[in-house]
Amino acid sequence: MSDLTAKVSKDSQGSIVVDGYEALKYNFHYTSPVFDVNHAKLADIYKRWGRVLIVMDTIVHPIYKEQIEKYFAHYNIAITWKIVNGGELHKTMDTMLEIVDAMDSFGTVRTEPTLVIGGGLVTDVAGYACASYRRTSNFIRVPTTLIGLIDASVSIKVGINHKKLKNRLGAYHAPLHTFLDFSFLKTLPIGQVRNGFAELVKIASVGDKAVWELLVKHGKELVETSFGYKEGSDGVRAPGTEICHRGIETMLELESPNLHELGLDRVIAFGHTWSPTLELTPRIPLRHGHAICIDMAYSITLAHSRGILNDAQRDEWFTLVSSVGLSMDHDLFDDELIAVATDAIKKTRDGKQRFAIPDREFGKCIFLNDVPIEELQSVLKVHKEFVKSRYGSGVGKEAYVDAGDLGAEPETYAKSSNTQKPVPADDCCTAHSLKRKGVNGDHTKAAAVSAGGVPVDGTGVIRNGLNGTLVHAN
Ligand SMILES: NC(=O)c1ccc[n+]([C@@H]2O[C@H](COP(=O)([O-])OP(=O)(O)OC[C@H]3O[C@@H](n4cnc5c(N)ncnc54)[C@H](O)[C@@H]3O)[C@@H](O)[C@H]2O)c1
Ligand SMILES: [Zn+2]
Repeated sequence: MSDLTAKVSKDSQGSIVVDGYEALKYNFHYTSPVFDVNHAKLADIYKRWGRVLIVMDTIVHPIYKEQIEKYFAHYNIAITWKIVNGGELHKTMDTMLEIVDAMDSFGTVRTEPTLVIGGGLVTDVAGYACASYRRTSNFIRVPTTLIGLIDASVSIKVGINHKKLKNRLGAYHAPLHTFLDFSFLKTLPIGQVRNGFAELVKIASVGDKAVWELLVKHGKELVETSFGYKEGSDGVRAPGTEICHRGIETMLELESPNLHELGLDRVIAFGHTWSPTLELTPRIPLRHGHAICIDMAYSITLAHSRGILNDAQRDEWFTLVSSVGLSMDHDLFDDELIAVATDAIKKTRDGKQRFAIPDREFGKCIFLNDVPIEELQSVLKVHKEFVKSRYGSGVGKEAYVDAGDLGAEPETYAKSSNTQKPVPADDCCTAHSLKRKGVNGDHTKAAAVSAGGVPVDGTGVIRNGLNGTLVHAN
């Protein structure tokens, strides 16, 4: 919600000057289980309307339908459902317009908040529908994935993909409230928990030493037990809760002064330099968490090679990440990709590298701007040898997107993508130097860059992208 105050005056040349200031206020509530009839906070918001329009995806809806119906029935609030297809292939204008139509049939008034329950995908698309509906309308978020809880629902960014371009259309649109309930992790597949865990590794490595220490101590158990929500694992729930709460609060402290992302030295860009290109490069895309983890692992090797981190610190970092099954390297993460991705990210960082790395200890951050390509490539060699000698290929568990992430069977999708026309020459100026056998056509990295490898909003942060054939896949 925002309050605008504005002063209108005339300057010495007679031009009218509007001087406006907008105060922004939105709330986060830790409420668990949020759909427990003893927790009235959410229901209280809807009492005034006696009804609620709820947007969910086809996977999460059947799991929580009964619980949600029971909750709102208790408070005499009638539910209207809008169920949409999840997966990155459905993060589209079509899905957004479906939600707009549902709001229209429901007769949503601007102040009446649409309730959005789901992972980052649904909260992004429905949030964008709310940002656009009647120019702006309210919404309330209930994130149900770890990514949603500690990342997507902490920001006020909403949006959709357009053609090949990741999050190309969107808005900064704060919800009225966000209800954070970690008990949703109970039903979240472990692969998704691991994916979100990578973002916690990121924030801890460069933003919060206490969280880092808790991760080192409890990380493996947290991933294996979905943060203590699997049967009989309550013991680890307290440190898991502390990690998530601190992670969210650190992120808010770091990013709230930079809500519109005008500042480019961003601590939370750790792991998000080469990963936007890497994530999209394999035939079946990497999960976002695995791609950023490879980027972070390489950054740790870079910090180590410059003497910024010592052997013990490097080893502690790799031990944690390997113990939870996250990726540390990939065959396609090579000299060529480093060169293409470095060029691409510099374009969004005002010509500077701004490589975020831990500053002599975990929890602190510095930015490197002076790393020549020769050094990047020789560090890559060292990195690959290090990972290989200790951990084999470095590819973690369930590293690639699945049908839930994608909204289609990945193999079917990859096959259909391979038969698509190559990216037009105009779109892939570097494509011919990037020719590669066995991966998605001849234009892989250039396509990855044009599909979102070049972050379009200047943030350096791109999530769960698809390969360059997204435009043909629907
Ligand atoms: N706005 C932001 O700042 C921001 C930040 C990070 C990510 N994102 C966006 O978020 C999206 C990815 O979000 P995500 O990782 O949450 O993926 P997602 O929303 O696609 O969810 C992943 C899968 O888990 C399922 N799922 C969700 N909650 C579940 C639960 N509790 N139990 C069982 N299954 C459940 C979903 O149906 C889906 O199949 C991307 O589109 C990315 O661009 C946005
Ligand atoms: Zn990320």
